[in-house]
Amino acid sequence: MVSVYEIPVIEGDGIGPEVVSAGRQVLEAAGEAHGFDVQWREFPFGADHYLETGEVLSDDALAELENYDAIYFGSVGDPRVEPGVLERGIVLRLRFAFDQYVNYRPVKLLDGIETPLRNRGPEDIDIAVIRENTEDFYIGLGGRVRGESREHHELERGLYDASFDVDAETDTEELAYQLGVVSKPGSERVVRYAFETARERGDDRVAAVDKANVMPDMYGLWREAVESVSEEYDIDHEFVYADAAAMDFVRDPGRYQTVVTPNLFGDILTDLGAMLQGGIGLCPGANINPDGVSLFEPMHGSAPDIAGEGVANPTATIWAGALLLDHIGEPAASESVLDALTNALADGSVLTPDLGGDASTAEFADAVSSKL
Ligand code: IPM
Ligand code: MG
Repeated sequence: MVSVYEIPVIEGDGIGPEVVSAGRQVLEAAGEAHGFDVQWREFPFGADHYLETGEVLSDDALAELENYDAIYFGSVGDPRVEPGVLERGIVLRLRFAFDQYVNYRPVKLLDGIETPLRNRGPEDIDIAVIRENTEDFYIGLGGRVRGESREHHELERGLYDASFDVDAETDTEELAYQLGVVSKPGSERVVRYAFETARERGDDRVAAVDKANVMPDMYGLWREAVESVSEEYDIDHEFVYADAAAMDFVRDPGRYQTVVTPNLFGDILTDLGAMLQGGIGLCPGANINPDGVSLFEPMHGSAPDIAGEGVANPTATIWAGALLLDHIGEPAASESVLDALTNALADGSVLTPDLGGDASTAEFADAVSSKL
């Protein structure tokens, strides 16, 4: 009996359709080799759909997507649309609607890829970043305060001095704030996921990132969650400030194994990590709800500057596809896809321009498929 997986796919904008098409081809080839079938369910969301219909993401689509385990996603963002509309309206909306509280981002240097760090190789760069994905400064709560009404916002409870003069005549918005939220259950669940990841990888330590020195309320609670969950495991942990972690990622990446981080610091650290592993075109991300709908995507954006040219590197999307296969219960196929991808990169005869080659997206996808 051949198992059949139905996978919703959102190609999105820019290079999204090109890299997703490469990823689909590789996953289908993996299915042939491992005895399963993938049936894609296409969803149109992205800039074109928005500009044609005014709809960013429909509630009906959300209700339908709810029936699946895993979504395959390209990228959104388009110069014709105000920045943030599609990112918040699609990427963040899906993360929050499906409570995808883990963003797993492997910062791993693959064989055959060069890191910009001098004298470092694959043995030095293999970090599992577990980024919290539904709290912190991403919750979308904030406000802009006009004139004298700012007093109602109690900003003076902190170090901030809001007692400057107000120009009553213009009475324009002159103060803005954005709230971050950390909850105990929200922290504990992602920290537990990090410890589980560390255990699976055979790590001996989890590094927890924060800025508890500056934001003692939020990240004090975060630390307590790390302390309490760590008691369930026979694995060490350490606390690292986000700025120090950024420094260490470059200075001594081998020091890190599994890293668990609040949402915003995780966003920044994983872009830094992307450079360590050879470029943003190589980094996948898995937005995971272990009991719900997860979403697998390349970490890069829609790269409008090279869209339609067929030269985008599909590595991140293919790798995200491998994570998807593992998630839906095809770990052997997942491993073969990652092996095929690594072999194609290490072989080096068919590489996209970002890696110094002159192959197209499709040619690279063919090279990976042929190794399956
Ligand atoms: C990422 C992206 C997103 C984020 C944007 C597109 C909302 O940068 O996946 O890292 O900030 O999380
Ligand atoms: Mg980011």
